[in-house]
Amino acid sequence: MNMNDLRNVRASDLNAQTGGDPREDMVVFENVSKTYPRQGNSGQATLAVDSLNVRIKAAEIISILGPTGCGKSTAMNMIAGFESPSTGTVLLGGVPVSKPGPDRSIVFQQASLFPWLTVLENITLGVKSRGMPEATYLERARQLLEAVRLTGFEKHYPYQLSGGMQQRVQIARALISEPGVILMDEPFGALDSQTRLMMQELVLQLWQQYQPTIIFITHDVAEAVFVSDRVLLMSKRPGRVKLAVDIDEPKPRTQEFITSSRFIEVQSELLHALRSEVQDAATPAA
Ligand SMILES: Nc1ncnc2c1ncn2[C@@H]1O[C@H](COP(=O)(O)OP(=O)(O)O)[C@@H](O)[C@H]1O
Ligand SMILES: [Mg+2]
Repeated sequence: MNMNDLRNVRASDLNAQTGGDPREDMVVFENVSKTYPRQGNSGQATLAVDSLNVRIKAAEIISILGPTGCGKSTAMNMIAGFESPSTGTVLLGGVPVSKPGPDRSIVFQQASLFPWLTVLENITLGVKSRGMPEATYLERARQLLEAVRLTGFEKHYPYQLSGGMQQRVQIARALISEPGVILMDEPFGALDSQTRLMMQELVLQLWQQYQPTIIFITHDVAEAVFVSDRVLLMSKRPGRVKLAVDIDEPKPRTQEFITSSRFIEVQSELLHALRSEVQDAATPAA
């Protein structure tokens, strides 16, 4: 098969996939299911994620698409160590995840900055409290502020910044511990489309510089195709991998990629598959 082709891997193949050298696998879902217990005395238990088998390589950028409520955040929270699988195992660098740690940083949709701290204080608070020497974190913060184009805003408070700038602060804070894994849960969902494009390019630039493994949840198909090496489409709940698409386009990517026929082809395939999942999810079970 031509390496430059966009390759589709059937969901059933994912289970058989060996993924080459296991040491290259940064995150592995081994037959992971997650059931949330029923709330109170009424209602039912929720099977959020069902038999998930996914291997994510070190320094890979992988996007997860899927209808609302299909278990995307649940899958991510199990990598973060906020939730544990009901069955199966989530491995990080070959070791089962048991709790959160500084080797994984999270970027949420709403910038979760402390309003009473400056930009610099927000970025450095975590590493400072974990005992990183001041000279180290100040130098890293300086470089990161430059990378996210916020040099000169060190002493500003969050309320003085636009939404996009606040997300850039959050990204700088996520990178300062130089984590192996960055988890992004619909990070640009609240931004206008112009700002989103800028942020997507920024993600690729930062990846070039720091080479983290990035797991990126989005509901925007074009965004997923633009930033990722691989896009996973999850089915409606309980979430399973319905479709996996490799995006064999060199990084960093330019706006030209968005208008290429390959981009449009893979985007329409994913849109089509996503639409059928969303319609199924909206249809009450018989
Ligand atoms: N902490 C929780 N307790 C109980 N049910 C939950 C919890 N978190 C998520 N769920 C349920 O699990 C399912 C998947 O949720 P989630 O992972 O947030 O989906 P997504 O991120 O794809 O929108 C939903 O039905 C949701 O209501
Ligand atoms: Mg979610």
